[in-house]
Amino acid sequence: MDRLQLYLAPLRGFTDYIYRNTFAEHFDGFDGALAPFIPTVTTDRFKPSHFKDVLPDNNSTIPIVPQIISNQPDDFINLAVRLGDLGYTSVNWNLGCPFPMVAKKQRGSGLLPYPEKIDAFLEKTVASIPNRLSIKTRLGRRKINDIFELMPIFNRYPLAEIIIHPRTGKQMYDGRPDLDTFEQCLELSVHRVVYNGDITDLKTFHDVFDRFEDIDGWMIGRGVVSNPFLPTIIKADQDDITHKAEKFRQFYEDLFERYRQSFSGPGHLLNKMKGFWTYFSKSFQNSRKIAKKVHRTQKMHRYMEIVDRFFAEDAQWKD
Ligand SMILES: Cc1cc2nc3c(=O)[nH]c(=O)nc-3n(C[C@H](O)[C@H](O)[C@H](O)COP(=O)(O)O)c2cc1C
Repeated sequence: MDRLQLYLAPLRGFTDYIYRNTFAEHFDGFDGALAPFIPTVTTDRFKPSHFKDVLPDNNSTIPIVPQIISNQPDDFINLAVRLGDLGYTSVNWNLGCPFPMVAKKQRGSGLLPYPEKIDAFLEKTVASIPNRLSIKTRLGRRKINDIFELMPIFNRYPLAEIIIHPRTGKQMYDGRPDLDTFEQCLELSVHRVVYNGDITDLKTFHDVFDRFEDIDGWMIGRGVVSNPFLPTIIKADQDDITHKAEKFRQFYEDLFERYRQSFSGPGHLLNKMKGFWTYFSKSFQNSRKIAKKVHRTQKMHRYMEIVDRFFAEDAQWKD
């Protein structure tokens, strides 16, 4: 599995620099990460907090590519230039975000039904930014057909790569990735294509890897937050890792401590950790039980007791 490249997918609210750095201290297997999206603003006076997640000082472990969400070429150019000043030679354009609040404003997957707007956006930005541009997309907003209009447009620009999550925006995460349509995109694209979607274990990886032999880039999100050993397992093409629950616990404790230090109040921290346990729980036996317990908790000290007891008494890795 030498030639394959694995990338951590952007999961806003999860795979921030604290997560990425803690991950890199405990696990390996990733060649890079796409950082969660940064929205553009209509001024070129950005606050430092806008960039915190992508500041080079915060990203010395896993190499990242920053991602921008926008439908305004000028704002995009401003932000890309700033990211270029920070040293980023590539930036990524988010054309996949399915959330209605975003999509309704013709951003993320909401822009996919408007090929002429995408074309005009690329025409203006590609020539004006100091970075190479890659795109992360879905197949369409409501219909998979959007992508067939877009591939010829993408082909006309010197893009670094296209990352495709083969669902529509409307689907959110329902149903299965549409591998037949993905295959057609692969045939149509002159650019490097990276596959992304629903890789959760060695079997689901092989289901796509064995079918798309020419692909050398694979991006994984939720599957890794649930099972952080996955990139190592995929690279080794086998799972001989022992004491997973204990190793995971050490990772969890570092992660929790770093978030504890970075949040001002216990409410935010608790919500953050509840979000993580939606994914963490999936790797353990009786996952629903621990997920439920954590989600019902309203108090930080109770949350800590529940998780401590879980690791001490119940935590059995599911494999
Ligand atoms: C909570 C959450 C946040 C996400 N945030 C982003 C984001 O900031 N940028 C992006 O391109 N995709 C985002 N995605 C989509 C993922 O990067 C990825 O495309 C999707 O989860 C499918 O891959 P997976 O099955 O490996 O998770 C997000 C997904 C989730 C579930």
